Formats: sequence, structure tokens, C-alpha cells
Amino acid sequence: MSEAPGRSCPVPYRYGAPALAACAAFEVETLWVAGGLYGNRFALARLLELFDAESGSKALVFNGDFHWFDCDGADFAAIDEAVGRHRATRGNVETELAGADAGAGCGCAYPEWVGEAEVARSNRILERLRGVACGFPETRRALGALPMFRAAAVAGERIAIVHGDADSLAGWGFSQERLAAPGGIAAARDALRRAQARVIASSHTCLPVLQSCGEAGVIVNNGAAGMPNFRATQFGVATRVSVRPRAGALYAVRAGRLYVEAQPIRYDHPRWLERFVELWPPGSDAFESYHRRIVHGPAYDLPLAQRAA
Ligand SMILES: [Fe+2]
Repeated sequence: MSEAPGRSCPVPYRYGAPALAACAAFEVETLWVAGGLYGNRFALARLLELFDAESGSKALVFNGDFHWFDCDGADFAAIDEAVGRHRATRGNVETELAGADAGAGCGCAYPEWVGEAEVARSNRILERLRGVACGFPETRRALGALPMFRAAAVAGERIAIVHGDADSLAGWGFSQERLAAPGGIAAARDALRRAQARVIASSHTCLPVLQSCGEAGVIVNNGAAGMPNFRATQFGVATRVSVRPRAGALYAVRAGRLYVEAQPIRYDHPRWLERFVELWPPGSDAFESYHRRIVHGPAYDLPLAQRAA
């Protein structure tokens, strides 16, 4: 693996699936997991609306990369304040914001199919965001102190919550690409066994996938809560795991007694686009990398996201 900034997986990012198995679980009836909010305050507002409407015991976990486009003090503080009222794990963005060392770049551990120019832009976005975060020393310390993973129990089933994959905060093992490659599902099944979880909820790779692994359980990657995930769409996606189903899921599967669902986060797209362009005008690194996706969605179709064992 290359050791260039943005390509390598920093050693402190590695924990290993047995650590997930040993993690104490909090118990709820309904669990929402929202990775990749990317500083989108409008997606945050919609997500909180959906979560607040849930009945019964519940928890919302922001599993990393809740900061990214929020390179303005007010936006950064608003995201931080809202996330602070719920549970969170740190993603590579928060981990690199908390550190002063630019050696890992954005910490994304980008695989070979992501081009050099995009990796370089990501590293520069992180540097700009770190400049904003430096105005919030308490927040930076708190971000660095967040756990890399959590565990929940719903209906007696264990759910491991990670940012990347079962072994590393920035791992790509639960990307739709790796799961589609030979050995990808076998590795996922093995990860569920090693983590002793019925469900592993991940994010980080920016495209959603709900991979059934038969009796072993389910891998559910929400893609991004704060960016479009499918071609010609303009909504984010969050994962919902519950003892009861909720209407409106994009796709869903049963895992033991659980309902595992991908729920759309239909945020105010015009207002978010306006804010995004204010923060990242044409020619800026984030505009170059993300504007097209924010407007048109990625080259990935919704029917590809749900996969049988
Ligand atoms: Fe990430």
C-alpha cells in the first residue's frame, strides 16, 4: 500500500474485530446510524426530525465524518453542538482534525480506484477545515477523545458501529466495490463472526450497500447522510435498525429479530446547495470534487445497493 498522504491507513486507526466483540453495548429498541453528514446542516435538521419522531427507547449515532464541508465557524459549531447531544464515533475527518500532523492527509486511506487529483483535493480540504477547527481547541480535544467504534443491542442482537470496516477506522472492506469483488462476502461473513455481531453498521466509503451474509448477519453501509448516494437523486441515506419497521425505507432486510433499513434523508437541497457554493465556490477543491455529485448524484444506482447472500 502506498504511504502517500491520503493513501495510507495510519496505525492508530487499526483496532481489529475482536475489539468490537469486547465492546460493551447500550440497549435500545431503535437505533439510527448516520455516517458522512459532511457538515450538511440541512441534512442534520432532517435527520433529527426523523429521529425525534421515533417512539420507544432510541439512540442516534453519528459514526464519523460529520464534519467536512463546514469550513466556517458557525457551521462547524452548529454541527458540533448537535452531534454532542447524541452518541458519536470519530471518522478519519475528526481524527485528523484533532491531530496537528498533516502526514496522513485526510486519513481516507483511499483505494487504487480513487484518482490522485481527488486524493490531493481531499488533503487540502482537510487542511482548510483544520484551520477552522483550530479556533475550537476544546472541540478538537473532544473529537480526538471520541471512540473509534461502539456497540448497541436491539432485540437482544448485537450491532457493531464502525466508521470504516471491522478492523480499521478507514478500512474499505465494507465498500460496495470490495463486497462485489471475489472473496468480499466471505470476508464480511468472517468479520461478523469475529466481531460477534448480527449487524455491522459502517460508512466512510461514500456509497451505500446492504449486504446480507446469510445466517451470519448483515453489513449495512449508509454511504453518506449528507450527500446524494444514487444517480439523479438529491437525498442522503442513514441506517435504521429496530424492533419494528418504519415506512419509507429505500430498501430493507430482516436479520434475526431486527429490521435493518436504509432511510432517505430528504434535506432542503436548494438551501444546502446555496450554502455549499458559498463555502466552496467554483474552482475550490470541494467544488471540483463534490459539486457534480451534490447536484446529480454519483454514478451508482439504487437497485445495486441491496445484495443477497
Ligand atoms: Fe471517512
